Amino acid sequence: MSEIKICLSDSLKEKPKDETKLGFGDIFTDHMFMMDYDPQNGWHDPRIVPYGPISLSPAAMCLHYGQEVFEGMKAYRTKDGIQLFRPDENFKRLNVSNDRLCIPLIDEKVAYEGLKKLIEVDQDWVPHSEGTSLYIRPFIIATDEHLGVRPGHHYYFIIILSPVGAYYEEGLNPVNIYVETKYVRTVRGGMGMAKTGGNYAASIKAQDEAAVKYNYTQVLWLDGVERRYIEEVGTMNVFFKIGDTVVTPALEGSVLSGITRKSCIDILRSWGIKVEERRLSIDEVERAFEEGTLVEAFGTGTAAVISPIGHLKYHDKVMEINGGKIGELSQKLYDELTGIQWGKREDRFGWVDRIITKA
Ligand code: COI
Repeated sequence: MSEIKICLSDSLKEKPKDETKLGFGDIFTDHMFMMDYDPQNGWHDPRIVPYGPISLSPAAMCLHYGQEVFEGMKAYRTKDGIQLFRPDENFKRLNVSNDRLCIPLIDEKVAYEGLKKLIEVDQDWVPHSEGTSLYIRPFIIATDEHLGVRPGHHYYFIIILSPVGAYYEEGLNPVNIYVETKYVRTVRGGMGMAKTGGNYAASIKAQDEAAVKYNYTQVLWLDGVERRYIEEVGTMNVFFKIGDTVVTPALEGSVLSGITRKSCIDILRSWGIKVEERRLSIDEVERAFEEGTLVEAFGTGTAAVISPIGHLKYHDKVMEINGGKIGELSQKLYDELTGIQWGKREDRFGWVDRIITKA
């Protein structure tokens, strides 16, 4: 691997004083990691540079045809140092997205070395308060100056960092979800399993209408063909506890393979709870609600962690789940997952990677 060059910023920014007001995704650290791709050199020139605007041609292909992929992960400050949660899974998934978007695969080890170096440089930006973390956003864009539709020949791989608090204003309090029946996010064979901007662009109108018309936080997506089977919720995967069983939609190509989803399944099974990954229709959820067996529902994601669902609106019917309160299982999962991430509970699955040890 070529050595990572480091060019430090000569005007460091002031760090946020009040960590209770971090919110999500508005503040960025002093540096970023970059690497370029061209057909002659492959991925090359890994470097850390001051965070700031990048220069792109107005004809850059990513701006016109959306050839871009991204990831979301977090670094946590613990009493012993700074650690990451399953970073290998993120870089693996980045390559799955790359493959779907016809972007040259990255060397996952080089990307990880770059990330570790970047966090080392900007380590003072990892927030200290409970419930906060350093959100990590790796992304790749096609930079060719070209207006024909084809795979790019030139790319940037960039990692930026942002100290964050809770993704939803509600924090761990239940969110209200609108079951979307007019718009679809993706279909099987589309890009749903890839983490790419187009999937999120497709979701904005539905999310905006749900917020403006009904004051609902997010939408629940149904499959794009039969409009019956549950796929995911806004920026999260989704789980329903029906009776004693926890059900989550199977990964059939249109659902993002969430790392928090996968971790929750492992934790639940380790507690002896039955988890089914299968097709789950909205009618089945409605029936369970009517019969009183819909115990809890929650979303999972890196940004949102665990987000209980308080109300689910499907057509004219509003289903209040668990009295609109945080469910017992959602709370237990949140405590276990964040306990592992913040180094307060035993890492019994070997998921965390301490990258900086406190002196
Ligand atoms: C994440 O959970 O990290 C995501 O990527 C969701 C994001 C769109 C906020």
